[in-house]
Amino acid sequence: MRSNLRKDKIYNILKISKELNLLKDLDSLLDRVLMEARDSVNADAGTIYLTEGNQLTFNYFQNDTLFKKDLTSKRYIYSKQKLEINHNSIAGYVAETKEPLIIDDVYKIKATPPYSFNPEFDKKSSYKTKTVLTVPLITARNKLIGVMQIINPKNKKGLITSFTKNDTLFVTYFASHAAVAIEKAIMTREIILRMIKMSEMRDPKETGTHVNRVGAYSIEIYHKWALDHRISSKEIKINKDLLRIAAMLHDVGKIGVSDTILKKEDNLTDKEFSQMKMHTIFGARLFKDSTSDWDDMAKEITISHHERWDGKGYPGHINNILKKNIVFGPGKKEEEIPLSGRIVALADVYDALTSSRIYKQPWSEQGVKDYIEKERGAHFDPSVVDAFFSIYDIIKAIQEKYSY
Ligand code: C2E
Ligand code: SIN
Ligand code: SIN
Ligand code: SIN
Ligand code: FE
Ligand code: FE
Repeated sequence: MRSNLRKDKIYNILKISKELNLLKDLDSLLDRVLMEARDSVNADAGTIYLTEGNQLTFNYFQNDTLFKKDLTSKRYIYSKQKLEINHNSIAGYVAETKEPLIIDDVYKIKATPPYSFNPEFDKKSSYKTKTVLTVPLITARNKLIGVMQIINPKNKKGLITSFTKNDTLFVTYFASHAAVAIEKAIMTREIILRMIKMSEMRDPKETGTHVNRVGAYSIEIYHKWALDHRISSKEIKINKDLLRIAAMLHDVGKIGVSDTILKKEDNLTDKEFSQMKMHTIFGARLFKDSTSDWDDMAKEITISHHERWDGKGYPGHINNILKKNIVFGPGKKEEEIPLSGRIVALADVYDALTSSRIYKQPWSEQGVKDYIEKERGAHFDPSVVDAFFSIYDIIKAIQEKYSY
């Protein structure tokens, strides 16, 4: 490769790495990392595994041949696989050795290496994996946080070709920058989950899965809604990045609600329910001194996720959320409610009805669907309900992924 081309490429990697550090949400980040790594070598597919104890979990994958469209439930369906970190699998071997590895044809691995290719994914999906570049994701302090596989590089004619030595160099170099950003995003997510755990004081497992589901439902509903409303793909990506975390925080204001109310196994009295409703205000107060777009969206969602499309929700218009004695105003109505709040309202109620809560049993799937249909245009924004039903397979896949 000519040296100025090489310089351009390195410059480009640095530029992209800087952009990676602006992304806050782990999934948006993995999406971008994989996209850029694949782009740099024109690869058809790719996977990112992240380490969890002694295992690698299959965290993110892209495959242009199988899934051309952005919106697909498959991503969630395959996402439960785990591999041991040992020399049996290709990814496990790279995690163990922390060295990049190129395999020209996974179906023709000679007898010598300890690892072997697992054709399970190919069999299930009828994809043909051939050439695979696997690189470790190692942070500056030499901690392994995962493994990235780049699969089937293509030449100009679209035929599968081999990786060059330079490809390995670039992808490895890029991976070292990406690893640092990924580690930071993992930490952000962990801190947020702890914050949520503290605020709900419920079974941490239930809480974790509830907020994970509400976050995931919300970004997928938003994605479909935004495509229906011709929002640009750049704006969609930015909003999804913000929305997942902000949606996960929708109930963080419960930190201000007493334990006895949160843990009550019975119906709430009117007085208790008025206190419970304050969680919307308490939440918004946490984000009132906005320092980022993300604070703004978290504030929007905490305060508006119990508003209703027909104006009968709470807390309604409030002129000063800091006042000691808050009087709930007339409910916000229709587009007075921010889109993020309209989306989380549906995601939250859907999840509340399909799960068991300390105070209730889950409803039947049909019961929940009928309810949402009935509340279209009453509790919920009709366009959000439509987006929800048209990606119902993705919603079910998310439920499967974050079940317990
Ligand atoms: P949550 O459990 O996350 O429920 C969120 C929303 O889902 C509720 O908002 C409500 O709109 C809907 N929802 C949940 N369960 C049912 C149900 O059985 N029927 C119907 N029609 N809708 C349901 P909402 O009512 O404003 O409640 C906010 C929060 O207050 C709830 O969050 C929960 O933490 C608490 N809460 C509500 N009702 C009770 C109760 O009877 N007992 C206890 N201990 N907590 C309650
Ligand atoms: C994206 O921003 O497209 C990736 C986020 C996700 O789908 O989880
Ligand atoms: C493995 O590392 O053995 C899994 C490779 C793959 O399924 O792509
Ligand atoms: C969102 O709330 O998800 C997007 C922000 C907006 O366009 O209102
Ligand atoms: Fe709430
Ligand atoms: Fe909730």
